[in-house]
Amino acid sequence: MTELRKHIQEAVDFIRTKTDARPSIGIILGTGLGELAKEIQQERAIDYGDIPHFPVSTVESHHGRLLFGSLAGKNVVAMQGRFHMYEGYDLKQVTFPVRVMKFLGVESLLISNAAGALNRKFKKGDVMIMSDHINLLGDNPLIGPNDETLGPRFPDMSEPYSKELIGLAEKSAKDLRIKVRKGVYVAMQGPNLETRAEYRFLRTIGADAVGMSTVPEDIVAVHMAMKVLGVSILTDECFPETLKPVTLEEVIAVANKAEPKMTAIMKEVVKRMKP
Ligand code: HPA
Repeated sequence: MTELRKHIQEAVDFIRTKTDARPSIGIILGTGLGELAKEIQQERAIDYGDIPHFPVSTVESHHGRLLFGSLAGKNVVAMQGRFHMYEGYDLKQVTFPVRVMKFLGVESLLISNAAGALNRKFKKGDVMIMSDHINLLGDNPLIGPNDETLGPRFPDMSEPYSKELIGLAEKSAKDLRIKVRKGVYVAMQGPNLETRAEYRFLRTIGADAVGMSTVPEDIVAVHMAMKVLGVSILTDECFPETLKPVTLEEVIAVANKAEPKMTAIMKEVVKRMKP
């Protein structure tokens, strides 16, 4: 057994002393999705700090807890608080909770994030369903010896985000009369926002939105044959021609304002997912 597999097992064994929940859906609550946590009928919350090998959140605005409960009648586990490369974690740490979710029974992963809009047709406050991504982190969570019991050495990435879940999200948004965008997300290390020249470059290579998360978790989920849905709240407009300074306060304000749209879509998707 590889060390990673042993660590996963130790985390799962610990969680099993606290709950026998069998969630089939995992949710990563990013910036702007805190409200969704309130919609979960909580049965159990476990602090990351108590779980063996779990990293601990450094960002003040993020709780660090694994929430077990039901949402729209489905058993879910949600990460309240996530990890970013810019905090100093390596990508194996960032993605460790996704590995654990898989071994708790999770088959589908819903990921949210805040991102900057690159596509000129998009506006701040828009919700974007991720159709694909570009990994510009300069790193990969799968580097190192591969554990074949977790997934293949060279995972296929022709469907990084599940077509089925994207369809479900689009249909849900339509029925809820919420306008959604769809586009390519590019991941940058951060923590600084990008320069005008970088935004121009990112747009040129085909990205519609830019952020600092989600891609590592997606890669690890795909490695383990999980289905992923990624949804971004576009919190600022990264248009080189008209770029203005943005503050974290503004980003959070826009995320909070757009959050009900994202929460409604996610909840509806969960409701419509197969049991
Ligand atoms: N870059 C630019 N704007 C953003 C980002 C980012 O990574 N995340 C949220 N808004």
